[in-house]
Amino acid sequence: MSKFHLVAALLIAGAVVAPVVAQTTSIAYTPQQVVAARQASLAMSSADFGAMLAAAKGGAEAKTQGGAAKSLALWAKVLPTLFPAGTAMSPTLDTKAKPEIWTDHAGFEKAAADYIAATQQLSTLAEANDTAGFTAQLDQMKEACGACHKAYRAR
Ligand code: HEC
Repeated sequence: MSKFHLVAALLIAGAVVAPVVAQTTSIAYTPQQVVAARQASLAMSSADFGAMLAAAKGGAEAKTQGGAAKSLALWAKVLPTLFPAGTAMSPTLDTKAKPEIWTDHAGFEKAAADYIAATQQLSTLAEANDTAGFTAQLDQMKEACGACHKAYRAR
């Protein structure tokens, strides 16, 4: 089999197998597990962010923060997927996620999209070793965190 045919065969096999896997694999998390995952991820994002702030304050070059910035950007994309229906604050669920996340879903998606864009910009600036830009972007990002918290996180 030529290389081309092998690749084609693998692609076709993948195309056939993928939907079967999607149908037969059922992964179910309880609402409390989803809440625990997002809270843990936000605590880590916060630590990651705080470490970058401290590094910038200490005069570190932006490129030394490339890994931290990239991981925050990767996680920012996952964040909005961790708010499925049924995980709002309630007497039985230990979360600060306000019901507005679901009643004003477009607003929440916008806050999440702004945050994704801000983290991607931060990562780009770190890659370019633009230290002044990186530091300014970190300050801007406090607003992206705060804007979402103000509307969608209970105190
Ligand atoms: C798109 C909305 C959104 C963005 C953006 C966002 N957060 Fe949050 N954050 C939340 C929500 C909602 C909660 C409450 C989650 C829960 O309790 O289930 C939360 C919780 C937290 C927590 C508490 C986690 C715990 O231990 O329970 C920390 C810390 C935090 N966020 C930090 C940050 C920081 C720092 C940023 C920016 C770098 C940020 N967040 C960006 C919505 C957001």
